[in-house]
Amino acid sequence: MSGSQLQGRRVIVGVTGGIAAYKACDLVSKLVKAGAEVRVMMTENARRFVGEMTFATLSGSPVHYDMWRERSEIDHIAMADFAEATIVAPATANIIGKFAHGIADDLLSTTLMTLTSPVIVAPAMNTHMLESAAVRKNLALLAERGVRVLECAEGRLACGEEGAGRLPNTQVLLDAVVEALAGESDQFAGLRVLITAGPTREPIDPVRFISNPSSGKMGYALAREARRRGADVTLVTGPVTLQAPSGVQTTRVSSAEQMHEAVQALAGEVDIFIGAAAVADWRPAEREQQKLKKSGSEEMVLRLLRTPDIIDAVGEWEPRPLIIGFAAETEDVVRHAEEKLRRKAMDLIVANDVSAPGAGFETDTNRATLIDVIGRETDLPLMSKAELAAEILDRAGCLIASRESQ
Ligand code: PMT
Repeated sequence: MSGSQLQGRRVIVGVTGGIAAYKACDLVSKLVKAGAEVRVMMTENARRFVGEMTFATLSGSPVHYDMWRERSEIDHIAMADFAEATIVAPATANIIGKFAHGIADDLLSTTLMTLTSPVIVAPAMNTHMLESAAVRKNLALLAERGVRVLECAEGRLACGEEGAGRLPNTQVLLDAVVEALAGESDQFAGLRVLITAGPTREPIDPVRFISNPSSGKMGYALAREARRRGADVTLVTGPVTLQAPSGVQTTRVSSAEQMHEAVQALAGEVDIFIGAAAVADWRPAEREQQKLKKSGSEEMVLRLLRTPDIIDAVGEWEPRPLIIGFAAETEDVVRHAEEKLRRKAMDLIVANDVSAPGAGFETDTNRATLIDVIGRETDLPLMSKAELAAEILDRAGCLIASRESQ
């Protein structure tokens, strides 16, 4: 993350009472190191998990938690004026419920009511709470109102259970703050961008399928960034757990055939196509109607057929959009990517070494080389998927401009 994007920017970090409160210390520390002016606002319960002195020291500023004690010095209106962006991390079910329903009974919940600048909510809680109808509905309500709701990470939770509910790592929190501060631009206003994301599932029988570990994070980051630049964005996504980015037309599909159909439905109506999805190349020739039985056999032969090539089909469209593809490779990455760029007649390919540490599937970071149709090659360092999305769209902007000038 580039520190310059945070230099001098004013950020409120709201901390609520969950075990992940200690992780907000790292967020505050990194925001401050990147040059942001940070004010920490804690709930009473958060103070049971982390002492205010820790946040005061890290932020270099007193911590705010008591509406009455601080009334003369600072109040929620002043805090709302201060904030260029606010992130609540961790956000408990309680603060989410209050924020969704307009309940203001402490300094943080009252301040959230008065904010006019972007707000990010990073939930962290037990999986069952997260999946409860009430929390899901409240998060959806907040997302509808333009609050950026971050996806919980999965793993071992403090209660000993495994599942979704962990606070996303600091990089994801920082990226969200940077994105919120960057605000809207009109660079892509009037452009229609179609993005594929996530894996596809090719059914073998009603309970089994062929797929891959794509989480959708790369494609969703591209969709958010294209939207932020003012584009009219459609996201066609395979099965992932991510929430639809706000302001993006999102179509959920499962198989490669369905993804192909959803993309083809927009033939001729797209200016930029980006294929970030990890589309299965093969599907079982037959889909069994009932669960296959082992029937004592030690061997099973599955006959596979090729799936439709989505990018190849987009290349046939009239008018032809700018086509950006990815190459997920594990060896000789650039050579294989160059070959794909030519074979699939792309304008730009993102060569992705999916075996490199921190790159490829599921991670929050990625490492890629951008290769364009005239042979320009840019080897990028490891960066967050949000930053890589911005690099890809910067390059797309240049290619669109050079097309228009021809
Ligand atoms: O989703 P994440 O967890 O964030 O992971 C990101 C990612 C690793 C999935 C992403 O960065 C990536 O590399 N996506 C492309 C994966 C892939 O399928 O690569 P490929 O080399 O097999 O395919 C080349 C291109 O053709 C891709 O743009 C792909 O979308 C497209 N394709 C592939 C098969 C097919 N039938 N139709 C296609 O359009």
